Amino acid sequence: MSDALVIAVDGPAGTGKSSVSRGLARALGARYLDTGAMYRIVTLAVLRAGVDPDDTPAVEKAAENVPLSVGDDPDEDRAYLDAEDVSAEIRGEAVTKAVSAVSAVPAVRARLVGLQRELAAGPGSVVVEGRDIGTVVLPDADVKIFLTASAEERARRRNEQNIAKDLGDDYDAVLADVKRRDHLDSTRAVSPLRAAEDALVVDTSDMTEAEVVAHLVELVEQRAGARR
Ligand code: DC
Repeated sequence: MSDALVIAVDGPAGTGKSSVSRGLARALGARYLDTGAMYRIVTLAVLRAGVDPDDTPAVEKAAENVPLSVGDDPDEDRAYLDAEDVSAEIRGEAVTKAVSAVSAVPAVRARLVGLQRELAAGPGSVVVEGRDIGTVVLPDADVKIFLTASAEERARRRNEQNIAKDLGDDYDAVLADVKRRDHLDSTRAVSPLRAAEDALVVDTSDMTEAEVVAHLVELVEQRAGARR
């Protein structure tokens, strides 16, 4: 594929969005941008500043000049707070619990959306993964994909991951957390999670990761072909 393409991948947690977006970027030789990681880095900085994630004015202040950076290689997880590699810490429980509240703050979103647009405008094709990429960040993306899966299936996958990482086995608690985050993400005032009108909706409940990647590569090639 010679044309540079901008591909937006949105959807809730647990749809396999992250692995699938990386796989798609790899298959297309594209850059990969994980916007969730950016919200997570800001959340880590807020927590380290001792700020209550629900105290909006304090979050705004603490988040103002967070020196964050992320990589764009789908094979490397690079997330930095200043010069510190925080790629593991931002996936931990404390950040995961607080990130919905921090990402609901309009000033935080405004700053990160600006940064995301700058990063997406770099060279070559790019797969940008998040919640509001097709609707808000890059409404002119060439291809918009919205991944879904039932809450039960997403909870089952997350629980399997927890077991694999020795983080316990509690399906009911994970399901409750999936539903809580879905609710917060889809009802917040700024950039609620929803599919763009022109997004291709893909239900991954009964598909393996490899099947989803192959399907998305096909969809992207169809769209790219239609553009020529
Ligand atoms: O994809 P993730 O779980 O790493 O995302 C972390 C949080 O950031 C999640 O609660 C939703 C939020 N987020 C967002 O509001 N907008 C984005 N573009 C990406 C993530």
